[in-house]
Amino acid sequence: MDFKDVILKRESVRNFDPTKPIPREILDRIMEAGRIAPSASNYQPWEFWLVSSREMLEKIHPCYSRQWLHDAPHILIVTGDLEQGWEREDGFNSLQTDLAIAMHQMILAATNEGVGSCWVTNFKISTLRNALGLKDSMQVYGISPLGYPREGFISRTAIMRKPLHEVVIYK
Ligand SMILES: Cc1cc2nc3c(=O)[nH]c(=O)nc-3n(C[C@H](O)[C@H](O)[C@H](O)COP(=O)(O)O)c2cc1C
Repeated sequence: MDFKDVILKRESVRNFDPTKPIPREILDRIMEAGRIAPSASNYQPWEFWLVSSREMLEKIHPCYSRQWLHDAPHILIVTGDLEQGWEREDGFNSLQTDLAIAMHQMILAATNEGVGSCWVTNFKISTLRNALGLKDSMQVYGISPLGYPREGFISRTAIMRKPLHEVVIYK
């Protein structure tokens, strides 16, 4: 898909067909888009979990009660280690920036493959931490369902955003 088409087509999908898992080679290409993402000082402070087994999905589901997340055959979980993030001299840690870039690269790669996704951060963090068995320095940055939209899913007809002149400052 053309780059412009990918960024225009990406949208939050909240309607998944639970009967259609994504083939492994497609999942691999989506994860590869995260692996090659840039990070401050190239520290790559991340781990990407791709949960597909029924057993793990059932442990993850209580973190977010929406049925559409539970319908998705896969859930991507982007985690990172605060101790591995690059730190500026004023103490700013780049972990969250690095994880946002990697996660969005995977989301765009999913769009490019015709796979639906949705950024989710309003999850119950303790549920995820327990399910994944994360050590204290590991943060969960975001999760996304991955799956094919259900037949009859209606794509958005317009992108609701502030106009360019309100958000861009040319000087
Ligand atoms: C950092 C971030 C966190 C988000 N968290 C949630 C969430 O917890 N639940 C949800 O349904 N959507 C969530 N969204 C999706 C936004 O609501 C959505 O991106 C926005 O309304 C624009 O719609 P679009 O993605 O279809 O363009 C999140 C998006 C971002 C970027």
